[in-house]
Amino acid sequence: MHKDLYPVKPEIAKNAWIDESKYKEMYEQSIKNPEEFWAKQAERLEWYSKWNKVKETQFTKPVSIKWYLGGKLNVSYNCIDRHLKERGDKVAFIWEPDNPEAAVRKITYKELHKEVCKLANILKDMGVKKGDFVTIYMPMIPEATFAMLACARIGAVHSVIFGGFAPDSIADRIADCESKFVITADAGYRGSKVIQLKENIDKAIVKSDNVKKVLVVKYANTKVEMKAGRDLWYHEEVQKVSDQCEPEKMDAEDPLFILYTSGSTGKPKGVMHTTGGYLVFVSMTHQYVFDYHDNDIYWCTADVGWVTGHSYIVYGPLANGATSLIFEGVPTYPTPSRFWEVIDKHQVSIFYSSPTALRSLMREGDQFVKNTSRKSLRVLGSVGEPINPEAWAWYHDVVGDGRCPIVDTWWQTETGGILISPLPGAIGQKPGSATKPFFGVQPKLLTLEGKEVQGAGDGVLVLADSWPGQMRTVYRNHSRFEDTYFSNYPGYYFTGDGCRRDEDGYYWITGRVDDVINVSGHRIGTAEIESALVANHKVAEAAVVGYPHDIKGQGIYAFVTLKAGELPSDEVRKELVQTVRKEIGPIATPDLIQWAPRLPKTRSGKIMRRILRKIAENQPDQLGDTTTLSEPGVVQELVDNRMNK
Ligand code: WTA
Repeated sequence: MHKDLYPVKPEIAKNAWIDESKYKEMYEQSIKNPEEFWAKQAERLEWYSKWNKVKETQFTKPVSIKWYLGGKLNVSYNCIDRHLKERGDKVAFIWEPDNPEAAVRKITYKELHKEVCKLANILKDMGVKKGDFVTIYMPMIPEATFAMLACARIGAVHSVIFGGFAPDSIADRIADCESKFVITADAGYRGSKVIQLKENIDKAIVKSDNVKKVLVVKYANTKVEMKAGRDLWYHEEVQKVSDQCEPEKMDAEDPLFILYTSGSTGKPKGVMHTTGGYLVFVSMTHQYVFDYHDNDIYWCTADVGWVTGHSYIVYGPLANGATSLIFEGVPTYPTPSRFWEVIDKHQVSIFYSSPTALRSLMREGDQFVKNTSRKSLRVLGSVGEPINPEAWAWYHDVVGDGRCPIVDTWWQTETGGILISPLPGAIGQKPGSATKPFFGVQPKLLTLEGKEVQGAGDGVLVLADSWPGQMRTVYRNHSRFEDTYFSNYPGYYFTGDGCRRDEDGYYWITGRVDDVINVSGHRIGTAEIESALVANHKVAEAAVVGYPHDIKGQGIYAFVTLKAGELPSDEVRKELVQTVRKEIGPIATPDLIQWAPRLPKTRSGKIMRRILRKIAENQPDQLGDTTTLSEPGVVQELVDNRMNK
C-alpha cells in the first residue's frame, strides 16, 4: 500500500479554520467533554429556544439517540432566512445545466427564500401537514432543492428517491412511508439521455395507491399525462400562492428526512435523520472538512438523491451561507473536460467528487484536464468508496496541480455527515487513507469475535459513541435498526466496513464486510438484485457478489440457475439484465452473468458466498475449505466457466 505522507501545506494551514494543534485540542475536548463541546457548536445555528439537555444516547438495547433535547429550530430558516440580512444578494445556488450551451441559473438567498416559501405554500394547499411524508423524485434542477427546503419549512418529512430508480423501487419506497404526496418533473436529462420521471411515477403509483397529489415541474417539455384531481402543474400553482411562509417551529428531534438505503438483507431501509443534531453536524463538517470560507465557490458533484447531496449540496453549505453549485450533467458530457470547464466557468474553489468519476476521467487522458486552468481550486474532496492511490495521485498532481489538499471523506447514509477525513490545514494525507476521526468520533477496530484491536492492525470498524448527525432509527422498524447496527458488537455502532489502522493512527477503509456491493459509490444489497433476478420466471435461483472493477470500484457478478427446460443464451442474459433494470433501476445492472447449473451450498442448503466471491474475483486458488459443501464438484464447474478470467 502507498504509504507516502503528503504533509499539510503551510500556505493552507495559515488561513485554515483548524491547524494541527487546534485539531488535537478540539478533538480531545470533544471526547472528554462532549456535552460542553457540542453545546458550543450548536451556537452556529439560530434556535427559537435552547435545548435543556445536549446528549442522551445509548448504544445498548433499547437503543436511543437524542441530541439537543427540547431545543426548537427550523432547518429552512437556518439555511435561508438567517442569511437574508447580511447576504441576501449572495448566490445560494449556481445551476449548471446538462447542456453546456443552455442558460445557467443563479439563485440568490433572497430569491431562494421566495421560491421555497411559494413551494411551501403550494404544499400546504395540497394538504401537506407537519409530520407528513413527501416523496421527491426529481432531476438535478434547483426545484429539487426548493422541494426539500419547502418540506423542512413546514415540518414535512422528505423522502428523496434517486432519478435512476425504476417504478417498482419507487413504489416500495412510497408504500413504506405511506407517502401521500409526490413532487416530480416531466422528465430530466443525464448526458444525452432523457429520463421520463413522471411516467415512472405514474407506473409506481399504480402499484401503491396511497398517493393523493402529484406536483409536476414542467422542465423538459416532454408530453406527460396529467390525472385530473391528482396531478398539478407547479408553474400553475405557483401563480396562486404568496411568497411568504412562516417556518414551523420544530423540535430538535423531529424528523427532517428519510432516505432509503440498501443493507445486507431485505428491502432498502428508511434511514431517518432528525432536525437539530443533523444540521449542527453537517454545517460544522462542511466548514471544517472543506475549510469553507465565505468567498468560496463550492461544488459537490453528487446527486441530491443520495445522502451526499442532502448533506453537502443542500443542508451543510446552506447552513453556512455558501454558494453551492448544482450540476445536472455527467462528467464526460459533452467531453471529458466538462468538470474542469465548469470549475473554470464558475471559479469553483472547493470541489467534492467520487473515485469512480475520477477513474473514468483519468482513463481519458490528461489532455482533457490540462486544457483547462483550474487555478481557482483550493481544496479537493472524495467520497463514496476507497480511492485507489493511483486515482488519488492523479487527482492531486493533475487536477490539483499538486497545489490542493485532498480530503478523502469516509461516512455513510447512516452517519449523516463526514466522520473520518483529513482537515486541510491540520492532517497530512496518505493516498488511499481517510486518515483521522472528526471531532467527537471514536473509531475502534474489533476482531470478528468482538475483541478490540489495539494500535496498528485490521478489524471491523465500529464507533464507540454517538455524534449529532447519527441516524435515529429505521423508519417504522426500530428493531431492525438495533439488529443491524448494534447487535453484532454490543455497545458499539457497527459500520459494516472493514478497516486497517497504521502505525500513525491513520484509518484505511478496506470495504464492506457484509453483503452490500459498492458500485460506482452506490450501495446495492446483493439480496435485492437476487430477488429481482428470480422475479424473472425463467430463473430458479440466483446468487450475486461483487468483483473488482477498474472504473466502478466494484462490479455486479450474478450466478444464475435457470429453471429446468430453460436454455441459457445471450438473449436470456439480456432479458435478465432488463428484468433487473425494471425491478430496481439501471444502477443495479449486472455486469457479468454466469450460468450456474448448480450453486455451491452447505449441507443445510445455505449458498456459500465466500466461494462465489473468490470465483468472481478470479482467485480460484483461494477458495479455502470446500469440504462442507453438499456437492463439492459444483465449484470446479463454476471455476471452469467463470466470466472474469
Ligand atoms: C463506502 C456515502 C472508503 C463505505 C457517503 C461506506 C467509503 C459506504 C468512503 C457508505 C471513503 C464511503 N473511503 N469507503 N472515503 N466513503 N465509503 O451510505 O463502504 O452511500 O460504508 O454513503 O460507502 O455509502 P453511502
